[in-house]
Amino acid sequence: MKTKYLIAPALLAALSTSAMAADCSVNIDANDAMKFDKNEIVIDKSCKEFTINLTHSGKLARNVMGHNIVITKTDDSAAVARDGLAAGLDNQYVKPDDARVVTYTDIIGGGEKTSKTFSVEKLVAGQNYTFFCSFPGHVALMKGAVSVK
Ligand code: CU
Repeated sequence: MKTKYLIAPALLAALSTSAMAADCSVNIDANDAMKFDKNEIVIDKSCKEFTINLTHSGKLARNVMGHNIVITKTDDSAAVARDGLAAGLDNQYVKPDDARVVTYTDIIGGGEKTSKTFSVEKLVAGQNYTFFCSFPGHVALMKGAVSVK
């Protein structure tokens, strides 16, 4: 009987700790059908840094069906995607030193993965952000909302 009473508080403590610790990362998969498996990234405001883990579960090469994740203010996303086209694959379809870009990952092909960690301080509370794939023609289908909560 005594053991039972000792276990309960320990278990409760473990549960509350895991509930309070924010997960400062997201796993997103992209595929050969030009789709992300998520349409929203929610960043907990307690996170100082946030990591994007991108996988490509398709088979097509990065120069044919490449995918990345670029985060910008929603109002900037169309122009950043357009400028990314001119930058080309060697620049991950992101204009070099583009101040409008909060963060971006490399372009990957089928079977590949990449990660990128960035400072959450770059995101202003109340501002609308978008994540999208800057590979030519993909932004129409491959995008979603980013919010800090
Ligand atoms: Cu893409």
